[in-house]
Amino acid sequence: MILCAKLNIFKGCMAWSSWSVCKECNQYRQRVEFNCSRTQESRPCICPPEINPELKNRSIAYNSSLQFICSLSGFPTPEILWTKDGVNLGNNNTFTIRQARFEDSGQYTCSAKNSEGSKNSTFWIEVAGVSPQITEPPRSQSLAEGYPVNLSCVASGIPTPTLVWTFNNGDLPSGINQTGYEGGSILVSPSVTREMNGTYKCTAKNKANTTSSSATLRVYGKASARVVSEKYITLIQGYALALTCKVNEETISVMWKKDGELITERAVIETRLDEKKSKLALTEVVEEDSGEYSCEARNKLGTVARSVVMVNVKGNSEAPSSSSSSSSSSLEWYYIGGPLAAVVFLLVLISYCKKRRETAPPHVPSRPNEGEDEVELDKLNAVVAIDDGATLYLSE
Ligand SMILES: *[C@@H]1O[C@H](CO)[C@@H](O)[C@H](O)[C@H]1NC(C)=O
Ligand SMILES: *[C@@H]1O[C@H](CO)[C@@H](O)[C@H](O)[C@H]1NC(C)=O
Ligand SMILES: *[C@@H]1O[C@H](CO)[C@@H](O)[C@H](O)[C@H]1NC(C)=O
Ligand SMILES: *[C@@H]1O[C@H](CO)[C@@H](O)[C@H](O)[C@H]1NC(C)=O
Ligand SMILES: *[C@@H]1O[C@H](CO)[C@@H](O)[C@H](O)[C@H]1NC(C)=O
Ligand SMILES: *[C@@H]1O[C@H](CO)[C@@H](O)[C@H](O)[C@H]1NC(C)=O
Ligand SMILES: *[C@@H]1O[C@H](CO)[C@@H](O)[C@H](O)[C@H]1NC(C)=O
Ligand SMILES: *[C@@H]1O[C@H](CO)[C@@H](O)[C@H](O)[C@H]1NC(C)=O
Ligand SMILES: *[C@@H]1O[C@H](CO)[C@@H](O)[C@H](O)[C@H]1NC(C)=O
Repeated sequence: MILCAKLNIFKGCMAWSSWSVCKECNQYRQRVEFNCSRTQESRPCICPPEINPELKNRSIAYNSSLQFICSLSGFPTPEILWTKDGVNLGNNNTFTIRQARFEDSGQYTCSAKNSEGSKNSTFWIEVAGVSPQITEPPRSQSLAEGYPVNLSCVASGIPTPTLVWTFNNGDLPSGINQTGYEGGSILVSPSVTREMNGTYKCTAKNKANTTSSSATLRVYGKASARVVSEKYITLIQGYALALTCKVNEETISVMWKKDGELITERAVIETRLDEKKSKLALTEVVEEDSGEYSCEARNKLGTVARSVVMVNVKGNSEAPSSSSSSSSSSLEWYYIGGPLAAVVFLLVLISYCKKRRETAPPHVPSRPNEGEDEVELDKLNAVVAIDDGATLYLSE
């Protein structure tokens, strides 16, 4: 063993495999085995280079660092040459890739040469990234026109993916701004419009792959309600009251109220959303039917539009008359102004009607007249709802 150890000066050229059997290369560069105890002194040994058998096609991770050793043996010490795609990389037996980039992919060759021969090895290295993954997909939302919206998208991957948005598979609508940062992107609009209703797709892309995620933005318009009539109606007891309220296509439900209370008794209400109207009919009115009648239209998000008329029923003894304001009007406002706005408005309204009555000729039969004097006293009390899967939270 000791003798062999002496011989084992050139790694790979000589070695022992047991206590008594030694291996080396002979002068014909063939491998021979012999009894170690036979030889007392070291002998020079020459052998051609051997290439590292681990140099094979392989895929390495992006940003990883690796060392490749070309030759494991050979005496005299071989001259090494590393090349990549034919370009010289140097003569160090060890070749290192630091923080692998995609450009490091390619065909590598290492050759080792000495007086006894030359060997080479060619292999391919592929630098693989990590496919992008959307870690925070955009959320579908439902909201009313005029409200701000944010849609964000965050993705991981190696290298860091770039994010691009599309709207209904095309360009983003105007009024939406895109802000990007490392691995993420946010779409912001201070005020959504009907044109922004649709599907927004966030696409994350890097060299490894591409992936995307979509969210829908549902933008609901306001409901509208308009009672087609005078603002102020006077009826004689026993006559019929018929009111028609026109709504728009955003309306999903209509409610009639008298003095703020839901009308339940006697009134016949017929709502035809397909015809965008609702009718209220009362036969044989009595004095107690006097009051403020309102038609309330609601959109999908619970935003309410309201239109009001005043009905005054007089006893039989009094002469038939009706509001003599010659121009009919309809009005519309939204809830948020609340009772205060209503009171203020009604005061204004009553004084206005009185004035009109003073100036108008008496007993002019009134005709319903549409589309005039639309008043919007206050903005809608719109509500922002978030779609959580299939659930749409509505509130008022
Ligand atoms: C090696 O040589 C020694 C001494 O000559 C002898 O005792 C031994 O049996 C030999 N071993 C082999 C494997 O030939
Ligand atoms: C190594 O990769 C190259 C290029 O991808 C291919 O042509 C070759 O056949 C592969 N060799 C082996 C042993 O897989
Ligand atoms: C690449 O690796 C270095 C050191 O290992 C690390 O500091 C860096 O953050 C990595 N870069 C990427 C994009 O993973
Ligand atoms: C060869 O590479 C090794 C390992 O990377 C390094 O330690 C050594 O300094 C290099 N030698 C030359 C001559 O560049
Ligand atoms: C690599 O070795 C082959 C024989 O195995 C030889 O034909 C070829 O010329 C060598 N290439 C280089 C670059 O040494
Ligand atoms: C949208 O994002 C901006 C900036 O991140 C933030 O200031 C704003 O409050 C967000 N708005 C909404 C409605 O989430
Ligand atoms: C959107 O971007 C445009 C141009 O970059 C800018 O003028 C505008 O103020 C931005 N709007 C918002 C809401 O950030
Ligand atoms: C709004 O978008 C939704 C889904 O993207 C679609 O079903 C609906 O028809 C759109 N509404 C309008 C008014 O474009
Ligand atoms: C990209 O991802 C898709 C879906 O995960 C997969 O089918 C495809 O093979 C990937 N492409 C590449 C180049 O990795």
